[in-house]
Amino acid sequence: MSFEEKKLCAAAMKAMDKAYSPYSGFNVGAALATASGKVYTGCNIENASYTPTICAERTAFFKAVSDGERDFSMIAICGGKDGVISKAFPPCGVCRQVMAEFCSPSFVILVMSSKNSFDKYTLSELLPEAFTSQNLNK
Ligand code: THU
Repeated sequence: MSFEEKKLCAAAMKAMDKAYSPYSGFNVGAALATASGKVYTGCNIENASYTPTICAERTAFFKAVSDGERDFSMIAICGGKDGVISKAFPPCGVCRQVMAEFCSPSFVILVMSSKNSFDKYTLSELLPEAFTSQNLNK
């Protein structure tokens, strides 16, 4: 695990502690690295009306983009029932689509499987043939 990967995983775990998930009990944390070396974190935030719920990954992206960031290199994601990281789970399809809006196909996604391990993917592996702004120009 590189220093940057370790730092991002630690930040994702810290963000997971902030999860607001009274309905699912599933706590998720994400830490997003900008190309310039900043880190934006996010947690899932649920709602009594269910559909307004937002995932940890999108919270991190929207915090960063609303702060003027557009260039990202990597995201670390962790989660589990009651905040226990017992196995890896892949980011949801909506979050993958948001990643595709701002990131290149080589964007790195670390999906943590325990406190000290992760599965490493590129965005193109998790979302091949993504629909992007390029498609609108054709
Ligand atoms: N969740 C995330 O935060 N990220 C994902 O990629 C998958 C699901 C959250 C949404 C909801 O609060 C809870 O996990 C259960 O679906």
